[in-house]
Amino acid sequence: MKVVGYANKLSLHPGENIDFMVSCQNETYHADIVRLIHGDTSQDGPGFKEEYVKTNIDGEYKGQVQEIRNGSYVAVPDTEDLKITGSLTLQAWIYPTTTTLREQTILGKWSGSDSTGYRMLISENGCLGLAFANSKTSLKISSDVPMRDGVWYFAAVTYDADKKQVSIYQIPLTIWPNEPSLAQTKTNVESIKIAKTDVPFMMAAHSYTNKSSEFLIDAKYNGKIDSPKIYSCALTEDEVYRLKNEAPANEVGDGNLVSAWTFTTNFSSSEVDDISGHDHNGLVINRPYRAMTGHLWRGQEQNYKIAPELYGAIYFHDDHLDDAGWEVGFKLKVPSNLRSGVYAARLKSNDAEDYIPFFVRPPKQTSTAPILFLVPTNSYLAYANFHWNNPGVDLTELFGDDTERKWDHPATDPDKYMVNNKLRSLYDRHTDGSGVAHSSMLRPILNMRPKYISPLLNNMKGAPHQFNADLHLTDWLEQMGHEFDVATDEDLHLEGSDLLKRYQVVLSGSHPEYWTGEMLDYLEEYLVDGGRHMYLGGNGYYWVTSYGTDSTHSIEVRRHRGTEAWEAAPGEYYHQSTGELGGLWRFRGRPPQQLVGVGFTSQGFDVSNPYRKSEKSKDPRVAFIMEGVDEGEEFGDYGLVQGGAGGFEIDRADIELGTPPHALVLATTDGFSDVYQHVIEEVLLNDGLQGGTVNPLVRGDMVYYEGPNNGAVFSTGSISWCGSLSHNNYNNDVSKITDNVLKRFVSEE
Ligand SMILES: [Fe+2]
Repeated sequence: MKVVGYANKLSLHPGENIDFMVSCQNETYHADIVRLIHGDTSQDGPGFKEEYVKTNIDGEYKGQVQEIRNGSYVAVPDTEDLKITGSLTLQAWIYPTTTTLREQTILGKWSGSDSTGYRMLISENGCLGLAFANSKTSLKISSDVPMRDGVWYFAAVTYDADKKQVSIYQIPLTIWPNEPSLAQTKTNVESIKIAKTDVPFMMAAHSYTNKSSEFLIDAKYNGKIDSPKIYSCALTEDEVYRLKNEAPANEVGDGNLVSAWTFTTNFSSSEVDDISGHDHNGLVINRPYRAMTGHLWRGQEQNYKIAPELYGAIYFHDDHLDDAGWEVGFKLKVPSNLRSGVYAARLKSNDAEDYIPFFVRPPKQTSTAPILFLVPTNSYLAYANFHWNNPGVDLTELFGDDTERKWDHPATDPDKYMVNNKLRSLYDRHTDGSGVAHSSMLRPILNMRPKYISPLLNNMKGAPHQFNADLHLTDWLEQMGHEFDVATDEDLHLEGSDLLKRYQVVLSGSHPEYWTGEMLDYLEEYLVDGGRHMYLGGNGYYWVTSYGTDSTHSIEVRRHRGTEAWEAAPGEYYHQSTGELGGLWRFRGRPPQQLVGVGFTSQGFDVSNPYRKSEKSKDPRVAFIMEGVDEGEEFGDYGLVQGGAGGFEIDRADIELGTPPHALVLATTDGFSDVYQHVIEEVLLNDGLQGGTVNPLVRGDMVYYEGPNNGAVFSTGSISWCGSLSHNNYNNDVSKITDNVLKRFVSEE
């Protein structure tokens, strides 16, 4: 990407400030602000539409290249007693997951700039080792057998300066006969005085500085660390084995314990406690996973709050990124008269461009229209930089014989940027193959852009999804003359149902999948209070989602028992941020059918279909919806998302799951190919009869029902729906139905 950036917030009020961070390979770039109207460049639709907005940020800016620097680690501030120059012991339980990827630092005070200090490491061929050095002499001793991935090891290294000896203990938690990765070695070495360094003591990486004196990390470790300790003496073999047998750290080493860290506290914060009494407390950087099963966990308990002592591990990854931390390129104070809507900073540099979207709300505590578009920003974050980093999944197979296309990814500059910089979404895997559970807004999000085409959809021909697909809706609103305000998922989570209660109607986007419990509560309160909701998407209100406890810039999802890109490890289903059970809301007793009448039942990435009207569509209760709907028994056989109004991800009504008994199913979309499979969370016996050609549950239902206090809900049950609104110059039944419902919901009637 010649020019690329991100903003420090997604949503703000007029009069507030927003910072834009920009990386540019050229000398300069031009920036201005646009209102985004329609982002889909397809020739089958109305085309790209934006509107220039004059602001004081218009102009040329100096370009500078800014890098993505990922990797999670712990840093403990430098102190004098951590500057050990002679005998020492480093010990931890470790669970490495990429043993032979490269050399990796586990613990130590090591200056990568001049290769001095000390550290426990995994050598590039996967063996536990100790490195220690001064400016003249550098020693690196490692065991002679590689460790195995995904196995707990008791790891200890000692350097005895008097005996001139290095001992290494690489002992698997479970020792099999002829265990190939067990090692216990003693090596004679020369005695050296280890150089004092003033770098932090670090875990899961070490630091160095570049020519610009920037603090950077190297030798990034993938895996878990549990109960790390350091002594300023060489523990005897007997003492090392007492540690292995769980002796308290301060009961060995004759008072030479320098630090013993525990990860069984501060699960939801960045702090790491030293329990040695020496206060070498640390901070985790780039939000590694906490509340992770440690070496003591044997399935005794699933909830870390009940048995925190079993959850002594932090799981580090070389591709974690919580905040890219780029320098600010320019700042915008949103003009006080700017109307609520979808905006972007438009960056241009020679022939390159990027758009950084943001959402402008009405002035605080007010509404400026009867309609609220609740922008599903949590979904944008969950899918942020989705690049199918799912080793072992052959995506072409998803399509059977229905496509002749081959999966060619990454093909575009944005897709290459995501892949090359390891910018993971909650659908991707980490370098070691485990699932990605955190996603932050403080980094470039290349698929949250107008013009972006999600390459897998539409039989691999591509189609808009998420942000760019939701512009189908905002364009239609504008075209049809419906005035609307915007607010984001985060706004609802922070402000509560009062935000919704300022509006006659709340519109979802095409895929509001990632909701917090608070958000569900607030929408329920709004609906009980007589609110009206149009759920214009599919697979909504699905995953238990949380924000960090001290900030909402990042979301957490622990995938479990759903239709999913990965599965959390046993014992790790509870969110580190809130302590709540992760997984699907339905398995916490809150299926989407209870909220909006329909819930996820199938997905397919080949073709979307039309809807067929039901007998219930003639019910006088819904006459206002069907007025002027004249395409015939079937409608919606067109659209910019897989060629139909029903499809991609579809939801069905189900009384047993909570669809209200008086709900009317007005129309159904079905007849899908076997690329559409019934959702896995409902398949109790794999009978081979789950595909769209044979399973009646593979369908999408359009539902309407009245709520308490003159409220109402209308749900389409399909992600594709909004992609059909603009067909035939906005003159079609999908548009007509949406318009009929919206006009009635806005009215007092
Ligand atoms: Fe989804």
